[in-house]
Amino acid sequence: MNRKIKPKKIKLGIVGGGPKSWIGHVHRISSRYDDKFEIVAGVFSRNVGNSKKFGKSIGIDIDRCYSNFREMSEKEAKIESGIEVVAIMTPPSSHQIIAETFINKNIHVISDKPFAGNLKQAQKLYKTIKNNKKIKYALTHNYSSYPMVREAKRLVEKGKIGKIEYINVEYIQDWTEGKQISKRNSKKIFKWKIDKKIVGTSAVLNEIGSHAYHLAIYISGLSGKNLIADINKYSKNIDLDNNAQVLINFNNGAKGILWTCVTAKGGVYGLRIRIYGSKGSLEWVQNDPNYLKYNPGKGSVKFLERGYADANFSKKFSRIKFGHPEGYLDAFANIYKEFAEYLKTNKKKKFYFPNENEGLQTAKFIDACKKSSLKKQWVKI
Ligand SMILES: NC(=O)c1ccc[n+]([C@@H]2O[C@H](COP(=O)([O-])OP(=O)(O)OC[C@H]3O[C@@H](n4cnc5c(N)ncnc54)[C@H](O)[C@@H]3O)[C@@H](O)[C@H]2O)c1
Repeated sequence: MNRKIKPKKIKLGIVGGGPKSWIGHVHRISSRYDDKFEIVAGVFSRNVGNSKKFGKSIGIDIDRCYSNFREMSEKEAKIESGIEVVAIMTPPSSHQIIAETFINKNIHVISDKPFAGNLKQAQKLYKTIKNNKKIKYALTHNYSSYPMVREAKRLVEKGKIGKIEYINVEYIQDWTEGKQISKRNSKKIFKWKIDKKIVGTSAVLNEIGSHAYHLAIYISGLSGKNLIADINKYSKNIDLDNNAQVLINFNNGAKGILWTCVTAKGGVYGLRIRIYGSKGSLEWVQNDPNYLKYNPGKGSVKFLERGYADANFSKKFSRIKFGHPEGYLDAFANIYKEFAEYLKTNKKKKFYFPNENEGLQTAKFIDACKKSSLKKQWVKI
């Protein structure tokens, strides 16, 4: 059997992302986008047969298609050309235990969000990451990797909109697929998202609210100080947190509003952020990701285009010339590309991909939302 691996590619193992998963193919494509990684091992499903069949179908050696993640960590750690990085794309409550299993074998981690299922898991995972100096960690809050989001971050850092005063962010989806949901069809439609043991603290917040909060702290460079939240359950019979309205006070005194909902009929991937400062404002909408609206507060409003003219910083994170749209996969792949570079460098270069620090902050935010909604009062983040 030929197991020769090209030395310049980083050897990647995958946990999750089986045949019918949502995010599996996104990770597999993104990891290979820039020829930095090679997928050499995996466990793609809890069902051993499905996992092996799928692994084989995408060209993984059958003896590196494992029965479970523990077996994979044990065996890969012993092979000389074993995986250097594991990518985790299983449901939220399993992220911590899977990440720690590989970290304990000194294998680097790229994990999908949320950082962990709940705050306790998040704090434990954070410690494990910080205590192991041999490993590096990245978290795929992928919206932060769009070139025009990076451009927005840079404009804030350069003081172009002054001191941030207000942030308004929303991420809404429609998990009902336009259907009427009853107790009978809820399991088929919402799947593990109505199982608290799997989805963790809160479905709407862990699944998409986490992205919205991450985007707000990522672009602004601020962190939340306290909040008051009102979280809804879908119905008496269906235990799904489906909507959250949150008022946030940030550490510099800025005021924020976050709205996230997974049952907004027709609300298809509505991620939008508006940030207002003492000198001007920025607005970015994921459905039109190649543009950033910049209002300098006086004079004319500008639509900055990815990779063009004034949007110089965004060029660093673009592959295709301006005018040709880049999107979701390109942004996702930026995390893999940067992580590959980060693994190979010892220099103190600045990297922009999300990490465990932001992961823990987001877990604290979600936990505070839950507490606030129960107590119906402001709580510290
Ligand atoms: N970054 C993003 O934009 C984005 C988008 C969608 C989902 N996600 C995140 O990705 C994760 C997975 O979501 P999804 O929608 O793809 O879920 P999914 O249910 O569609 O797929 C999960 C996959 O993981 C496999 N799996 C579960 N437990 C496993 C285990 N212990 N070992 C091996 N395989 C296992 C399942 O068989 C399935 O193939 C979640 O944390 C979710 O929040 C992120």
